[in-house]
Amino acid sequence: MKKSMLIWTLALTMIAFMAVPSAMAGEVEVLHWWTSGGEAKSVAVLKDLLEKEGHTWKDFAVAGGGGDTAMTVLRSRAVAGNPPTAAQVKGPQIQQWGDEGVLADLGRVAKAEKWDDIIPGVVANVMKYRGQYVAVPVNVHRINWMWVNPEVFKKAGAKVPTTWAELEEAAKKIQAAGMIPIAFGGQDWQEATVFESIVIGVGGADFYRKALVQADPGALGSPTMVKAFERFKNLKQYTDKNAPGRDWNLATAMVIKGEAGMQFMGDWAKGEFTAAGKVPGVDYLALPMPDTDKYFLFNVDSFIFFKQKAVAAGQAAEAMARLILQPRFQEVFNINKGSIPVRLGMPKDNFDAPAQRSMDDFVATAKSGGLVPSMAHEMAVYPEVRGAIFDVVTNFYNSDMSAADAAKRLASEVAAAK
Ligand code: BGC
Repeated sequence: MKKSMLIWTLALTMIAFMAVPSAMAGEVEVLHWWTSGGEAKSVAVLKDLLEKEGHTWKDFAVAGGGGDTAMTVLRSRAVAGNPPTAAQVKGPQIQQWGDEGVLADLGRVAKAEKWDDIIPGVVANVMKYRGQYVAVPVNVHRINWMWVNPEVFKKAGAKVPTTWAELEEAAKKIQAAGMIPIAFGGQDWQEATVFESIVIGVGGADFYRKALVQADPGALGSPTMVKAFERFKNLKQYTDKNAPGRDWNLATAMVIKGEAGMQFMGDWAKGEFTAAGKVPGVDYLALPMPDTDKYFLFNVDSFIFFKQKAVAAGQAAEAMARLILQPRFQEVFNINKGSIPVRLGMPKDNFDAPAQRSMDDFVATAKSGGLVPSMAHEMAVYPEVRGAIFDVVTNFYNSDMSAADAAKRLASEVAAAK
């Protein structure tokens, strides 16, 4: 073949490929609440991967830790008949959106990518509506963590606590040395995050399940719950006066900068340490919250997809769902986010020590019965019940209500919301 012919043949072949693309490029509008430094870095990984496949990412970020503001915005867009392509929605709420009949069926991508083989069974059940995948899980976060600045402890001559008594002792020493013991953000979801970790520490996994998963009035109003409320209120004296309203990542920054000794928060806080270039075991310590090392309060982020009229939009959404569970994304995203992969069988080597511990504890607590869903992070109860619990917890924390009254109110308000 002559050289000029060869060039022509090659050119024509390329044009033919370009004219019949295997997938159509589309746009996905993605609602999420990942706006802190570590979170934004994490979600950017997904945007990049999707754009490499030719699709367009339209960011719909709604600030507000814990996602309650994002959920309000999502509902109003859906009511107006104009939902985004995908939205960060978790736990039992996935079933509620399924009931609305608005979710896209992810069955085709789930089958092609063998999701049933790579997603743990307990998680897969939450992602399915009437047996069909309608959501894709992203990660596993652990709630009951304590983030420690070792320098602050050293300066105060305090020991890093593993029990509640040690925690109070350390807090007193840090305070006496003129520093803030606990970095706290006074927002209802952050209060509930700390509170549920205290509940499991005081009552154990079976009690937690009865109270905050089954919402059993007997457990909610019990002396064990009274003790949990007492412990919770007792922390307040170790927080600073600017705590009310503070965002969680600003509280994490106080620990990073050495302004405070510790924070109790899920491991998205680790994303902030990572983004600030901090090294676990050196610049900061990550340990289970005192009295909770046998337990793993889990929180799985996931995305739902709304039905699409345009073929291209549907293909872009499918691409996003597929990419989320691919090993490359699972690794890079979770390293940035502070969580661990939800995909089974991922190598641990590239993860840091706290993540490796989380991976081991996830497996161990699944066997021991210590693995329980987070109420505060929408894994355990319907939003109405969660809202009732949040109301009592925040009213108690921010008033002079007694712990006994709080437990009583918890039992009655949850019963009314059920
Ligand atoms: C989400 C995390 C997020 C955190 C703070 C949690 O409910 O699961 O992904 O980082 O809220 O916004």
